[in-house]
Amino acid sequence: MQNKSQHIAIIGGGIIGLGIGWQLARRGVEVTVFEKGRAGGEASWVAAGMLAPYAEVGFEEIDLMKLGQRSLQLYPQLLDELSEEVSSVPVFDRCGTLMTGIDRDDTERLKRLYDFREELELSVELITGTEARAREPLLSPNVVSGIWLPEDSQIDNRKLVQALRKALEQAGGKLREKTKVEKIKTRNSSVEGIVTGNSEYAFDKVVVAAGCWSQQLAGIPERFRPPIRPVKGQVVTLEKTDDCPLKGTVRSPRMYMVPKEDGTIRLGATSEEKGFDKRPTAGGQKELLEDGWEIVPSIFDLPLVETIAGLRPASRDHAPIIGETNIPGLFYATGHYRHGILLTPVTVYTLVDEILDGTVPPWMKPFRPQRFS
Ligand code: FAD
Ligand code: GLY
Repeated sequence: MQNKSQHIAIIGGGIIGLGIGWQLARRGVEVTVFEKGRAGGEASWVAAGMLAPYAEVGFEEIDLMKLGQRSLQLYPQLLDELSEEVSSVPVFDRCGTLMTGIDRDDTERLKRLYDFREELELSVELITGTEARAREPLLSPNVVSGIWLPEDSQIDNRKLVQALRKALEQAGGKLREKTKVEKIKTRNSSVEGIVTGNSEYAFDKVVVAAGCWSQQLAGIPERFRPPIRPVKGQVVTLEKTDDCPLKGTVRSPRMYMVPKEDGTIRLGATSEEKGFDKRPTAGGQKELLEDGWEIVPSIFDLPLVETIAGLRPASRDHAPIIGETNIPGLFYATGHYRHGILLTPVTVYTLVDEILDGTVPPWMKPFRPQRFS
């Protein structure tokens, strides 16, 4: 058991930094979260909030899928603990994912995705267009095939970051917004503190949870910096009226559509390598709306609520980077790419255990920072 009277800094107040800060504060640690803008205002705000390890698993990503499964299982615990501290906690919606196809290419692709999931003994059904429409009557008659993944879920990520922020402060953690950390200070190769625009602060440990900006912090030798780049994703949000009573998450190979607790439907997302430019574009929005309309034609008349884009923090192998680095006292919790909302509980609980008790479960090995250095 390590000393809990230590003072810990977290760089980045997204869902990951807020979650870690809250759990540390809850376990009696003095913690300060530094956020360069508004807490939760970047990728964690823009995300669609799917908790979908079964729909989003790639062919070479079995460890990542298992991490997602663990995290999904931890969601009820995280939400229970949150509701002990704040009144407004989002619903954990076990809505499933309906993947759809409209032509022969899509159908072949869905069959491959189905076979892969069945080999892994996941809960999955290959269905016809008619069966897909029985689940989601708004689907276009052009939908000819589908996969049903009953265990995927979703959450209102905006409500969640607001709840985490409140819970952090309620548990005694500090949040310093509009405070950019410029540099991490080290002495004798161990962490000593951080430097903001005009001040220096001493800390025993520092957690980098700075999303797609995690590589930019000065003070970390080049070879130990997390290899993170931004991948832009645009989303368009529509008002969910009675004309479009979508029940759960619907995907096509080109887009996804998620009905949210706040009465909106989020359509996403583009995937663009445009550096740190996060402006939505006419072309990106046009494609999302067209692709969405192809699958659910009744979105045509829905009022437009918001166009927005965010930057996914992508590591070189597209898996998260979680744990203590080669610099004692410096921890990474970054690189969550497309899955940061899903992976919040597993990241928070495992990293807090590592920081406080020095324990790391063997299944976290593929996600350790050392794989890059
Ligand atoms: P962020 O939310 O980006 O937070 C990082 C924070 O660090 C920011 O607030 C930033 O201002 C701050 N910061 C950076 N540098 C500094 C500094 N030097 N000093 C102080 N503060 C700093 N994931 C899912 O699981 N399900 C989804 O459905 C989903 N959909 C998505 C859709 C889109 C369009 C996008 C863009 C992402 C989606 N994601 C989804 C991914 C998910 O949003 C991210 O993986 C997750 O939000 C990452 O959280 P984070 O806290 O690491 O990053
Ligand atoms: N996970 C959905 C996205 O990143 O767009």
